[in-house]
Amino acid sequence: MKLAKGVDKLGTEAVYNIFAKTKKLIKEGKQIIDLSLGQSDFKSPKHAVDATIKALNDGHHGYTLPNGIIECREAVSRKIKTLYKAKIDPERIIIMPGGKPTMNYAISFFGEPGAEIIYPDPGFPIYESMINFTGAKGIPYNMIEKKDFSINPDKILSLINNKTRLLILNNPHNPTGGFTKKQTIDELVNGLKKFPELAILSDEVYDRLIFDDKEIPTLLNYPDLYERLIILNGWSKTYAMTGWRLGWSVWPEKLVEHVFKFCVNSHSCVNTPAQYGAIAALDGSENHLNEMMEEFSLRRKLIVDGLNSLKGIECSLPGGSFFVFPNVKKTGMNGEKFTERCLHEAGVALIPGVAFGKFATDNVRLNFASSRENISKAIEKIDKILK
Ligand SMILES: Cc1ncc(COP(=O)(O)O)c(C=O)c1O
Repeated sequence: MKLAKGVDKLGTEAVYNIFAKTKKLIKEGKQIIDLSLGQSDFKSPKHAVDATIKALNDGHHGYTLPNGIIECREAVSRKIKTLYKAKIDPERIIIMPGGKPTMNYAISFFGEPGAEIIYPDPGFPIYESMINFTGAKGIPYNMIEKKDFSINPDKILSLINNKTRLLILNNPHNPTGGFTKKQTIDELVNGLKKFPELAILSDEVYDRLIFDDKEIPTLLNYPDLYERLIILNGWSKTYAMTGWRLGWSVWPEKLVEHVFKFCVNSHSCVNTPAQYGAIAALDGSENHLNEMMEEFSLRRKLIVDGLNSLKGIECSLPGGSFFVFPNVKKTGMNGEKFTERCLHEAGVALIPGVAFGKFATDNVRLNFASSRENISKAIEKIDKILK
């Protein structure tokens, strides 16, 4: 059996390895506080669940168009208009089975041997994995140079050359919780005018999880980019709907027919009743999101203060998402060793920074999408192994 070259180059998400280890330890009777996964502990909004059940009862059991039902694409377009004051034709919107397929397709469109793709490091591991799979050269930009983990436009612009096909941005940022404000995005977009051939994939899946009432710095605010801009977003994080596998993306008009074909060739269409739930989530009350963000604000303070009180740990305040990314170097351990000891000695599951790239060897990622009680207990347990 001879496999295609790209297969060996495909990476993975270490979070799933830790997930498996954690499950095994729990099965053996160990008590583990799991702060490793990238998902909220809130349940999905009831109105989304009810609308999905209704869709099933109403007989919506068949295939839909590969780009999604028009009602769902119109709901996304309406939401974009309300939130960002941007006008996006529903024909440029594609409903996807989660956020991930958008990055898979976007990177597949531009990646091939000889091409370069710029991406954040540390960053969501699938960017690098997919870049390698296509045979393109990945060019990482360092996301931990700045204390608040925001992007550095000059650095990114300096990496662009005539081989660069795609620039990947992620704001707010996983794994650091970094948030880049609109003014900095303005600078970057201004600099990108010099490179009109370069496509941009803006992963904005955490765009509603921004703290302190800051403005959402979406790239949809820059219509001049629309011919080369891909927006990745979805229901997973905003509405605590990770298991539903629902995402939406906005594509340049020229690419829509290609995305359509990718959908036909891979998944045919997104789960039909779930698309009705997705509409309800977008059109329904935002109380659920507001309550979740109020709770996340309290947890954010709890976890940051708790971690900073521990010997050898330095943690900055995340501006968005539900992650913190403390530096643990002064404990005498690197991120991997620290993670290992936390899991086996403290019973706390987290992720080492190296799972997200080569620049973050001294960091670890913890989520605060877990109860305040769990967060406090985890801090106490970690404290014990540091003494
Ligand atoms: C930055 C980022 N983009 C995309 C995704 C994928 O989201 P989904 O679960 O909807 O595929 C995630 C999930 O953790 C993420 O952190």
